[in-house]
Amino acid sequence: MTTWKRIAGITLAISAATAALLGGAVVYTGLYDVSATSQHTAFVYHLLETSLRRSVKLRTSGTEAPALEDPARMVNGFRHFRAHCVQCHGAPGVAPQPFALGLTPAPASLVEAARQWSAAETYWIIRNGIKMSGMPAWQYRMSDQEIWDVVAFMKILPALSPADYKSWDSRHAPMPAQKAEASTDASQEPRLGDAVAGQKALQQYLCATCHVIPGIVGANRHVGPPLAGIADRQYIAGVLPNTPTNMVRWLRDPAKVDPLSAMPDLGLSEQDARDIAAFLHTLRDGE
Ligand code: HEC
Ligand code: HEC
Repeated sequence: MTTWKRIAGITLAISAATAALLGGAVVYTGLYDVSATSQHTAFVYHLLETSLRRSVKLRTSGTEAPALEDPARMVNGFRHFRAHCVQCHGAPGVAPQPFALGLTPAPASLVEAARQWSAAETYWIIRNGIKMSGMPAWQYRMSDQEIWDVVAFMKILPALSPADYKSWDSRHAPMPAQKAEASTDASQEPRLGDAVAGQKALQQYLCATCHVIPGIVGANRHVGPPLAGIADRQYIAGVLPNTPTNMVRWLRDPAKVDPLSAMPDLGLSEQDARDIAAFLHTLRDGE
């Protein structure tokens, strides 16, 4: 190795170590203000924006959008937009709900977003959500078809005046209330449970906010029993024999099994419940 390469290497290593130490010190001393009332510094905001753009680009390069010009598609997309998006993002002439005004980063108007992102990118953002912002992932709450419908509606959103939006609102009745039957189309027969899909799904139903679950990082204010070794337990919640079918029953409607249970009905689809049951079945004692 030549001398200049060695010097460059040492300089880089020292700079990296100094940066890591400084960053660590800011975190550890509590200097970074986590309150939602203090905006991100321009540097952090720029970092988040760039990460978002690059990350979405990398993950959507091969995605082809289906035909989106179908008016029926737009109407269905509007219904979902009205039910799930306007609360945070607002719409022409419609303000977001009070809770959304307190979010940092603040949810942007989607009129502008619809212009900036391609259809495939918008689809990806809606389906996967954005970590460390308030943007939820919708893939466990909406089918792929429905997400594309929202994208179709967002394509015409920039052209709607407040009066147009109002007239969409009065012409298209809200969706009938329905139990989430997402990730797969409701017409499809659910397949056998898949533990890997279950481990992923479980993070989208708040399970780890109430249970310590091996392999899942999450909040640690647990009000439910730890799930380590659940596969070896004889009974679920002390009353229901621990079989795969019973586990699916329990996960989809705990109150039906035990009316006094504090475990809520989280709106799991049949498929997600099967996948999660398959994952729980891998949690044996001593692991
Ligand atoms: C709980 C509040 C909340 C809900 C509900 C919500 N979003 Fe978001 N959304 C956010 C926040 C916060 C961000 C990140 C800040 C930003 O860039 O707007 C975001 C970002 C986005 C972005 C990227 C915007 C950009 O250009 O940076 C899109 C697109 C988006 N949301 C679409 C949707 C759609 C469509 C829905 C409904 C299916 C939805 N959001 C529901 C809070 C929300
Ligand atoms: C709001 C808190 C909460 C959430 C969220 C929650 N649970 Fe529970 N869970 C509980 C409580 C409390 C119990 C004990 C109920 C009882 O015994 O009646 C329980 C019991 C269970 C049991 C039976 C445990 C045993 O030892 O018999 C399983 C399995 C379970 N939960 C899995 C899940 C999964 C998977 C999710 C996510 C889909 C989830 N829970 C989400 C609170 C929660």
